[in-house]
Amino acid sequence: MRHTPVFWLICLASTACAGPPVEAPTGFDGASNGLVDHAAHAKDREDFDEIETIEDGLGPLYNAQSCRECHQDPISGGASQITELRVGHRGKYGQFENPEIPIARGEAIIRNRSLVNDRAICPNGQFPATEIHQRAPQSENVRALRVSITLLGDGFVEAVTDQALIDLARQQCRASGNKICGQVIRVPILEAPGETGVGRFGWKNQHASLLSFSADAYLNEMGITSALMPDEVTRLCDTAAQPNDKPDDEGLLGIDRFARFIRATKAPARDVVLAATPEAGIGAKLFNTTGCATCHVPTLVTAPTGTRINGGKFTVPAALGRKTFHPYSDFLLHDVGTGDGIVVAMEEHYGRDMYKIQWKDISYPGFVTTANKIRTAPLWGLRLRTRLMHDGVSVTIADAIARHGKEAEQSARKFAALPPTDREALLAFLNSL
Ligand code: HEC
Ligand code: HEC
Repeated sequence: MRHTPVFWLICLASTACAGPPVEAPTGFDGASNGLVDHAAHAKDREDFDEIETIEDGLGPLYNAQSCRECHQDPISGGASQITELRVGHRGKYGQFENPEIPIARGEAIIRNRSLVNDRAICPNGQFPATEIHQRAPQSENVRALRVSITLLGDGFVEAVTDQALIDLARQQCRASGNKICGQVIRVPILEAPGETGVGRFGWKNQHASLLSFSADAYLNEMGITSALMPDEVTRLCDTAAQPNDKPDDEGLLGIDRFARFIRATKAPARDVVLAATPEAGIGAKLFNTTGCATCHVPTLVTAPTGTRINGGKFTVPAALGRKTFHPYSDFLLHDVGTGDGIVVAMEEHYGRDMYKIQWKDISYPGFVTTANKIRTAPLWGLRLRTRLMHDGVSVTIADAIARHGKEAEQSARKFAALPPTDREALLAFLNSL
């Protein structure tokens, strides 16, 4: 829609355009947040839930047959207990290096990725002797697990401007006297070649765009190639036509539907009964005074409707524009002493050629320094998760807090020093998230 200068004058004078932001819709009812109608959201979800087969292009190496297998709880798009394996080793300067994993008795070598797929489609009836399973070589002594996370409400996260996250990092650093300084990394937007955005998705902030992440997941989790990730990890025992992801009857690719499905989800809702207790109310205040809120930022606001993001490839729609939401994260990388030593490097996503192209645009040392950093885990929906932290190893909230060190050391110490009733109140608040 185009507006006249008079419209803009009135608009600015009355603040009708900028207006106060409104609350993002929350809930686990599975309904659209308004981005698309109910029927379209249901159809997108069907694709997200679909079990892919070898004929569809599954594998050759893969982790699961459907996005929902790992993003399911309590509704499609949520989290799960499923973990993934990443390995590598340190090079001669101490920098992280991806593994080289021979498969099929050495017939091929899988390089440029730290991910080790847990499943493969062969050996099978058609290829009885093709032994392609990946197994981490003994030499790969940097090893890590990463647990599956929720995608619900991620459309709001994507719609936060790059500048807002950069400002947050600066403020945080200044306010804490340089003790807590979240790191911003710029990562490529696959659908806008040459463009980058501030990473905010994945445990390592490896993506800024949900379309990019969807293409990455389709290939690396399920072995399905698409327009944005066209190269199979291996062609051994691969028989499906390339790229595997083809337009459907409405002209949409699988990756388009996944991204739209995620963008249309409502944010995780609080447990309103627990949230209303006086104890949780006290806990919410303690969450701030104990310093948790410095990283687990309670409230963020999305860009105005009409803002172009993702290298100009996505325009923030009204359903996502100027919304206040409560992720309890700054979406920045921090060293809280739990780092797994693994860099989700450029090479992994884009192959060596792309890596060279990106080299001049993005500070490579920036990525090296992320080896032991993890994105602040968003705490929305925390009460629904059984295995906490990036590795899923902490099974209680108090255990997860006790693992916080380095940048979060002071905060964790304050938590430990709270009188028991205050500690219980803070936990009651966390259990309402
Ligand atoms: C085998 C399990 C598995 C499957 C299958 C899977 N994912 Fe994931 N997903 C994960 C894990 C684990 C992470 C965190 C990965 C990391 O950062 O290393 C993740 C992270 C994500 C994120 C980032 C969310 C955030 O808030 O940071 C998106 C988006 C995503 N997945 C989309 C998808 C889509 C779309 C599909 C289907 C094409 C899919 N995933 C299939 C396990 C899975
Ligand atoms: C310096 C930033 C920082 C501060 C301060 C901080 N955290 Fe965290 N928090 C993180 C990061 C980063 C992670 C993810 C670490 C990992 O997965 O290894 C995390 C993870 C968590 C988790 C696990 C969530 C999940 O889904 O796995 C909980 C719970 C948590 N923090 C609570 C707290 C509480 C309570 C406080 C205050 C006492 C606090 N944090 C202070 C950065 C911080």
